[in-house]
Amino acid sequence: MAKTIAILTGGGDCPGLNAVIRGVVRAAVLERGWKVLGIEDGFDGLVGEAGIRELSLDAVRGILPRGGTILGTSNRGNPFSYPMKEGGEVKLVDVSGRVVENFHALSADALVAIGGDGTLKIARRLNELGVPVVGVPKTIDNDLQGTDVTFGYHTAVSIVTEALDRLHTTAESHNRVMVVEVMGRDAGWIALESGIAGSADVILIPEIPYRLDRVCQAIETRRRRGSRFSIVVVAEGAFPAGGEQVVQVGAAENLGVARLGGVAARVAAQIEERMALETRVVVLGHVQRGGTPTHTDRLLGSRFGVKAVEMIEKADFGKMVALRGRSVVSVPIEEAVGALNLVDPQGELVLTAEALGIMMGR
Ligand code: F6P
Repeated sequence: MAKTIAILTGGGDCPGLNAVIRGVVRAAVLERGWKVLGIEDGFDGLVGEAGIRELSLDAVRGILPRGGTILGTSNRGNPFSYPMKEGGEVKLVDVSGRVVENFHALSADALVAIGGDGTLKIARRLNELGVPVVGVPKTIDNDLQGTDVTFGYHTAVSIVTEALDRLHTTAESHNRVMVVEVMGRDAGWIALESGIAGSADVILIPEIPYRLDRVCQAIETRRRRGSRFSIVVVAEGAFPAGGEQVVQVGAAENLGVARLGGVAARVAAQIEERMALETRVVVLGHVQRGGTPTHTDRLLGSRFGVKAVEMIEKADFGKMVALRGRSVVSVPIEEAVGALNLVDPQGELVLTAEALGIMMGR
C-alpha cells in the first residue's frame, strides 16, 4: 500500500541534513511510490505557524552537497512548551494536541523527525500521543547516546582542524598565543578530536574542569623548549575547576536554554595578564555548522534516510536510526535521550592527547 510520510528537521542546522531528506525522498518515491511531505521550520509547520509542501524527486535534486536544511529549522519550537504572544507578552503554551491533530489531518502514516536531544525528546512524546515516529539523530557536537556517531560531526571537526592549521602560521609568525573557541556545550568531542588532529598545545573541554595555572605552565614549558607560540582550543562549555560556564544569554531569557560563548576571551585575557604574552581570540561559531558536508556526513545522512524509510515500512516506530559499528540499525529513542555521550576523562582519546604532550587543563 502506498504510504504518505511527513519529515521535519528540528534544532540547530547541521551539515548532512539535506542528505537525510534526499535519502528519505528517494527511498520512498523511487522504490516504493510513496508520497513525502516536508514540514517547514521544525515543529512550527505542524503547529500551523509554517508551511507544509510535497517533496518530489525534483525538490531534492542537487541538495546532497548543500549545508543547512531545505526545510528550515527552529530550536524554539517545542510544541509542549511553545512560545506564543499573548497581550504583548510571550508565554510558553502546550500546543501538542494541535500538533497531533494537524499531523492526522495530513493523512500521513509516519513522521520522520531529524534532530538532536531536544527534537528526539519531543518526537518520543509525540509517539506516546499516537504519532508514529521514526527519529534520525543529528548534532555537530556528537553528544547523543545510542549511536556511535551523529552526522555533521565529521564536517565540524574537519572545519576546525583546517582552521587550526591556518591559525598556526599566524601564531608562529607573530609569537602569539591563539585561543580558539569551538562548539560543544556539554561534550568536548569537537575540541578534543580537532585539537589532536590540528596539533593544539592545550585543549579545554567541559568534562575536565581546567586549572589556569596548569595552562600557563604548559605555555611556559613550550617557551623554554623554544616554541614561542601556542594554540589553545577551548570548547564553549569548558569551565574552570570550582567555576562556571560563560553564558551570553541566560536560560531564563532564552526559552530555557542558555546561550554559551565567551570562554576563549576570558582564558585569553587571563593568560595575557599572568604571562605578559600577546594573545588573540578566534571564535569559530556557526562557521563550524555551515557549508558543504564531508563525504562521510553525506554517506551517513544518506544511509540514515534510507534506513528511516525501511523502518516505516516495517512499522518500527518510536525508534531511531543509529550507527553501530559498521551497520545502520534501529534503536529505541530512549537510548539517545536518556543521557549525553560525553568524553571520558580517563579514556583512550584523552590519554592519547596527553601522551602527545597536549595539556588537557588538569
Ligand atoms: O548543538 C549544537 C550547537 O552547535 C552547540 O554546540 C551550541 O551551543 C549551539 O548549537 C548553538 O546554537 P545556536 O544556533 O542557537 O546559537
